Amino acid sequence: MLSDRKAGLPFGVDRERDQALCEQVEALLSQMTLEEKIGQMNQVAGSRDTTGAPANTDIEADVRAGRVGSVFNAFGVEFTRELQQQTIEHSRLGIPLLFGYDIIHGFRTIFPIPLGQAASWHLEGIERAARIMAEEGAAAGVHWTFAPMVDISRDPRWGRVMEGAGEDVLLTSRIARAQVRGIQGADPGATDTLAACVKHYAAYGAAEAGREYNTVDMSEWRLREHYLPPFLAALDEGCASVMTAFNTLNAIPATCHPLLLDQILRREWGFKGMVVTDYTAVMELECHGVAEDASEATRKSVNAGVDMDMQSGYFVETLSELVQGGQVDEARIDEAVRRILWLKAALGLLDDPYRYADTEREAQCLLSEPHRRAAREQAAESMVLLKNDGHVLPLMDQCQKVALIGPLGNTQRLLGSWRGNGDHDDTVTLREGIANRLGEDAVILCAQGASNQIGDTDTAGIEDALEVVRQADVVVLALGEDEDYADEAASRADIGLPGAQLELARRVLAEAGDTPVATVLFNGRPMDLTELDAMAPALLEAWWPGTEAGNAVADVLFGDVNPSGRLPMSFPVSVGQVPIYYNAFNTGRPKGVDPKYASQYLDIPNAPLYPFGFGLSYTTFDYGPIEMACTEIASEDTLEVRLTVTNTGERAGIEVVQLYLQDVSASVVRPIRELKDFQRLSLAPGDSECVTFQITPDMRHFLNAELDSVQEPGLFRVQIGHCSESGEEIEFRVV
Ligand code: NOJ
Repeated sequence: MLSDRKAGLPFGVDRERDQALCEQVEALLSQMTLEEKIGQMNQVAGSRDTTGAPANTDIEADVRAGRVGSVFNAFGVEFTRELQQQTIEHSRLGIPLLFGYDIIHGFRTIFPIPLGQAASWHLEGIERAARIMAEEGAAAGVHWTFAPMVDISRDPRWGRVMEGAGEDVLLTSRIARAQVRGIQGADPGATDTLAACVKHYAAYGAAEAGREYNTVDMSEWRLREHYLPPFLAALDEGCASVMTAFNTLNAIPATCHPLLLDQILRREWGFKGMVVTDYTAVMELECHGVAEDASEATRKSVNAGVDMDMQSGYFVETLSELVQGGQVDEARIDEAVRRILWLKAALGLLDDPYRYADTEREAQCLLSEPHRRAAREQAAESMVLLKNDGHVLPLMDQCQKVALIGPLGNTQRLLGSWRGNGDHDDTVTLREGIANRLGEDAVILCAQGASNQIGDTDTAGIEDALEVVRQADVVVLALGEDEDYADEAASRADIGLPGAQLELARRVLAEAGDTPVATVLFNGRPMDLTELDAMAPALLEAWWPGTEAGNAVADVLFGDVNPSGRLPMSFPVSVGQVPIYYNAFNTGRPKGVDPKYASQYLDIPNAPLYPFGFGLSYTTFDYGPIEMACTEIASEDTLEVRLTVTNTGERAGIEVVQLYLQDVSASVVRPIRELKDFQRLSLAPGDSECVTFQITPDMRHFLNAELDSVQEPGLFRVQIGHCSESGEEIEFRVV
C-alpha cells in the first residue's frame, strides 16, 4: 500500500498545498457539464511525432469546443502556447491542456538508450540524466512525459527491450525510482520538472515469442513476483500517472483489466493518480475481441478504471450515452476527471497555463554544453567491455593510422530509437570522436565494407575495406544494428548482425594479422554474438550512445575512461535459448547430474554467452573471502556480510560488486540466485575497500502459493561476485 504522500494525490509535496489544490479542483468540477468532463478524458495526438495510426490533422476545433483534455506529441514553446491559447480563450471553462511527450532517453540532448543507461548500474547518473531530460522537455513546453518504462523482459527478440532496464526486478526497480526522482524532482510542479508516467502496465515485456503486441500469459505468481514490483517502486517514489499496456494478460487486455487496474493498482496499492491508455488501446479492444464496437470498448475500459483515452476518440464518441443509459456511473467519470484536474492543478496550470512557455529558457536550455557533457559521461559509463584478449584495448594514442571499418563508423545514426526531438545533425560520429581524440596529424581511413540493413547481403564493399586494413596500424570495426531495429514494432527473429557484417568481420580479422582490431558494437538489444566472439579479440558493447556517441566511444577506446558497464540482460549463445535469464529455477534434473536425462540442449550450452551482470575492465579486481557475523539468525534479524575488494591492476577502475541470494528450500521453488543488492566502487590501483552488505528480512521474503509475502526458516546461500555467474558462496540459516 502506498502512503498518502506517495499515492499521486496530487504529488504529496505539501499537505496544505494539496488541500488547496483539491478544493480548487472540486470547485471546477462542480461547474462542468458531462460533455466537458468527458472532454477532459480525451487525449489527442499533436502533429509533432507519430507512434501509431495517423495523427489528427485539425485538433483546434475540438480544443476550442472543450473536447480535449490533453495533447501529446506536442512540444515547442510556440506550438504549445498557441494551442493553449485556443483552449483558454475559446472553450467555455478555459481548462488548460496538458502537453505530453515521450522523453525516453533525452529531449534534444540524447543520452544512451535506457538499456545502456541500465548497464551503468549508476543510479545517481541515471537520475541526473532524467533530470536533464525533464529540464529540456519542460523548457520546450512539455508538462508530462511517458517514462519510466519498467517492463522486465527476458526476450531480446522484442525490440522494446531498449527502453527498459533489462531482465532483473531489483535493478529495474531501483532504476525506476531514480528515473522518477530525476523526472519529477523534489516538486513536479516546478517549471523545470515534469510529471512522470510509469508504463506499460503490465507484463508487456513477456509477449509470446518476443513478437510485438503479442499475447501474454503468465501465472499471477510470476506477475506479482517479477513483473509488478518495478511499477510499485515507481509509484512509491511518487510517480504521478500510469499507462496501460497494449497486450492481453491471461486473456484480458491490460486496458480493461479489472485485476490490474482496479484490484491491484487502486485497492491493494491505493494509487490515486491518473491512468492513461496507450495509443489507441481502447479502440484495439475491438481487434483483441473483447468489444463489438466503440461503445463496448469504452464501457469496459472506463469501468475497469481507465481515466484518459489516448487517441482512440472513443470516449468523446460514446461515453455520454453510456452514462445516460446507466452503463457507466457518473461518479466514475467524476473520479477520472478529478484525477486529471489534480495533475493539472499540481503542475500549476490552473493558476498559470503558460508557465512552461518561455522562449528564452527554451533557447538557453536545449543542447547546452553541460547537458552534452553529462550525455558523454553517461554514454561512456554505459559501455560494456565484453572481451579483451591480449589487452587490445585500450588503444595507444600513438596510433596515427586508424582503419575505421563498418557501417557504423562514419554515421550520425547513433542516437537509437525513441530519440525524442534529438537531431542526427548534432550527433558526433565515431570518426569524429576518434579524430577529436587523436588530433590533426592522425589519419583515419574509413570503409563501410558492408551494410547493417536486414537483407542487404552485398559483399562488394569488403575488398575496399581490406585495402584500408592493409594500410593501418590499428583497426576499429564498427558493427551493429540499424538504430530503428530496436524500437516499438521492431521485433527480430534473428538477433545476429544484420546484412553481410559477419562476413566483413571474418575477412577483416583474417586480413589484419598482427594489427590490433577492436570491435565496437552498436545495438539496442542483446544480440547473438557467438561467431563474432569466437574470432574477435576485443569487443566493446556501446549500445546506442546518443548525441555524444563518437566522443564517448573514443573515451573508452583510448582509455580516458575505464569501462565499468555490466550487462542488464543476458546475451544468449543462440536465439534458441530465449527466453533466457539468470534467476531461473534449477529444475528437477539440472544439467551436470545425469549425462542424458538432464534439462539441457543437445547442440548448445544452457549458459548464455555473456551472463547478466557481466563486464570487464582495463584493470583487475580481487575479491577477498566473505565474512559474516554468524551463520544462524532469527527471521527479524539483519545479517551483515562483508568482504574486501582490491584493484590489482595498474589503472583506476570501477567495480560493481553484486550480491545474490538463494533460498535453498522453501514452500515454493526459489530461483538459483537473485540479485539483492550491489555497490559501485571506485578504486585506485592497488587500493582495497571493505564492502559491507546488510541482508535484511525484506530480501529474504518471497510470494508463497497463496501470494502472500513471507519469509520461511531454512538454509540460504549468499553469492558475492562481479557477475551473476561468479563469486564465492557461503551459507546461513534462518531459524
Ligand atoms: C505508443 C507507445 O507504446 C508508448 O510507449 C508511447 O508512450 C505512446 N505510443 C505515445 O507516443
